[in-house]
Amino acid sequence: MTETTKTAPPEVLRPSGFGALAIDGKAMSGRVLAEVAADVSRLGLKPGLAVVLVGEDPASQVYVKSKGKAAESCGFHSVQHTLPATTAEDDLVSLVGKLNADPAIHGILVQLPLPGHINATRVLEMISPAKDVDGFHPVNAGLLAIGDQARALVPCTPAGSMLLLAEAARAAGVSLAGLDAVVVGRSNIVGKPMAQLLLGASCTVTIAHSRTRDLASVVGRADIVVAAVGKAEMVRGDWIKPGALVIDVGINRVPGEGLDGKGQPKTRLVGDVEYRTAAARAAAITPVPGGVGPMTIAMLMKNTLTAAQRIAGK
Ligand code: GUN
Repeated sequence: MTETTKTAPPEVLRPSGFGALAIDGKAMSGRVLAEVAADVSRLGLKPGLAVVLVGEDPASQVYVKSKGKAAESCGFHSVQHTLPATTAEDDLVSLVGKLNADPAIHGILVQLPLPGHINATRVLEMISPAKDVDGFHPVNAGLLAIGDQARALVPCTPAGSMLLLAEAARAAGVSLAGLDAVVVGRSNIVGKPMAQLLLGASCTVTIAHSRTRDLASVVGRADIVVAAVGKAEMVRGDWIKPGALVIDVGINRVPGEGLDGKGQPKTRLVGDVEYRTAAARAAAITPVPGGVGPMTIAMLMKNTLTAAQRIAGK
């Protein structure tokens, strides 16, 4: 008799060493990617993802490569279009039009930022809402705002943040309904859709931003804090209400200590939340790196699968 040993998936919640549970986005993204790959094998069609990169921004090159790799690992048809930084806006719009019409493509992502001479809004609005796997098109933003998540494609970072939050709430034995949630940051990509998702989960939602008065006391009242401002450790740990759930969307590179192997000053990544002191008060918190970061690509794969299922009428 052969014995099959199945390794249990890694736990999403683990001790942070500072008091709170650390919410492991790598473990959670692994679960999502495994589910997507399993669904693809049953779908009977190959979801197609086209990623468009204009120019040579090094960070964008890294992201686009990771997106392509993840797509392949999920069994997708994966296409990358790399265009020079001098590409005319009309040429980019025409490429998007071709991808909209291509039946092998179910998801289109135009990597941001675009070069300054291109009107990003015009390009993003050209993407067919059914293939808008970033969820940035006004039709998808509108569907989310009216609470119709069943028809929307939801932006990846907030969607991934919600999964982590739901897992943390489950571990803490609390329901999200009725909790006070504060989102710090009002961007169209993270802050606003995150607030809509929290509202959809029946939280009482506040969106704080650069003009908010007395941010410390606004954050201090929150059962849930989502920090998405892009400012290193701007949310101080001692603002956090004891027992709060903290989702840190920020990824900021700051000077580290000493020199690296090449004699260059070391750098390190930190979030928008001061981690150690926040982890001493929170019930659960996402670390940086390894928290929200890995979820964005996983949710992009999930959105591409969803888009393919809807387009195929499944
Ligand atoms: N640039 C940085 N993050 C993103 C993202 O989520 N989507 C796109 N299209 N561009 C990005």
